[in-house]
Amino acid sequence: MTTTSDSTSVNAVLLRTASEQAIARAAEDLWPDRHVVLGPPCPSVTSYVCRVTVDQEEVIAKYSWLGLSLVSILRGAGGSWDKVQAAQAAYVQSTELLTTREAQNLAFLRKLGRLRVCDTAGVHGGVLFTRPAPGVALADVLAARPGETGAFLTSVLVAVGELHSTAGATCLREVAPIRERAIEGVFRRKFNGLSATAYLRALGRDSGLPEAKRLEVIELVQTAVGRLLRLADAISSRRDTMVFGDLKPEHVFLDGHRLTFIDPAVQSSAGPQPDVAKLAGRSLLLALGHPQRDAGRQIVHGAASALTRHVAGLPASGRAAYLREVMVLWLMDTVNILTTCLSSPPGLPLAPHQAALVVQARTVAGLVGRVSALLVGSTAGLRLLDAVFSEVEHAAGSYR
Ligand SMILES: Nc1ncnc2c1ncn2[C@@H]1O[C@H](COP(=O)(O)OP(=O)(O)O)[C@@H](O)[C@H]1O
Ligand SMILES: [Mg+2]
Repeated sequence: MTTTSDSTSVNAVLLRTASEQAIARAAEDLWPDRHVVLGPPCPSVTSYVCRVTVDQEEVIAKYSWLGLSLVSILRGAGGSWDKVQAAQAAYVQSTELLTTREAQNLAFLRKLGRLRVCDTAGVHGGVLFTRPAPGVALADVLAARPGETGAFLTSVLVAVGELHSTAGATCLREVAPIRERAIEGVFRRKFNGLSATAYLRALGRDSGLPEAKRLEVIELVQTAVGRLLRLADAISSRRDTMVFGDLKPEHVFLDGHRLTFIDPAVQSSAGPQPDVAKLAGRSLLLALGHPQRDAGRQIVHGAASALTRHVAGLPASGRAAYLREVMVLWLMDTVNILTTCLSSPPGLPLAPHQAALVVQARTVAGLVGRVSALLVGSTAGLRLLDAVFSEVEHAAGSYR
């Protein structure tokens, strides 16, 4: 199957083959006397990830192309395939390499001992091998047990709370940050430059959305982006808190009562807001995509109660500003992932929840539009939170 279309700069099959070769070579170098078999890719728009069997043992391999998302590489953000390959050869040798920094993040979190993370099986040739986290991803747990969403999200926030504390912050200098996943950074990279208009206009062109719907989505996103860029100027540029960085329900595994975290992107921030925003926001997207309306609403209620409980633990004077920042970051992250999925070229398999997001793009864009309008208005604090969650609850029941 050929997957290069007019709108695709790099061929998806070439990218997949080169990723598999890099992973196979790294595994054979690390474990020369063992039998290595590569499994199919785990759907990811970010890195090339697949399961690998080494003798009887299963590990998970991750390979990043220039620290960019696979969507960006396929769309030509790194130039032609020849150029990408040449740049990648240098990138794999450099201290910038994302997978090396992720291995350092994992080692650091293990040393800190506050947050259980998956084991590292090896790092070599640009490839990170981790051992499967025990249990089930929280994303699947929430879908199956939506009534317990509030309790699960609270337990995740309590676990990362120790990282957010002064004890976490004192270690900030020890860790190589992974800023590639910073919500605000990604948002500004996508929408603050000259290429933003062209990027927005091309959204969804390979998504299968009807043209009228696609144009509606673009307009809604464009309006929300304008508001969010203005709201972003109010976000503090302090960098005194350590955050997990990519805290979404797909990155937390639950085994009994034990939580194990994967895929950290540790970075400094002006408070825990990016972690809170991503965890709540991605849970809400799961609610919107849930096939049962009541289950979707239960997830929305659970996320609202976890957020209310979390904010109740903060000094009263700072709550309103904190909540507003969480909501701005939540919308930015939602726009980031929505537009990434809508830009996904043919030949890159999406995870089921990402494919669901494309199908529901109009609902999500409508929600982002309405909530961004609330955020530029004068309502604040818990009243704002209530107004926002009414919108989400309405959206969770509207698409079927
Ligand atoms: N150690 C692990 N244990 C269990 N699942 C994993 C592990 N590493 C990766 N995965 C699975 O592969 C997906 C993509 O891997 P991830 O590390 O999140 O890469 P990316 O940087 O592309 O987001 C994860 O969401 C998860 O489903
Ligand atoms: Mg991930």
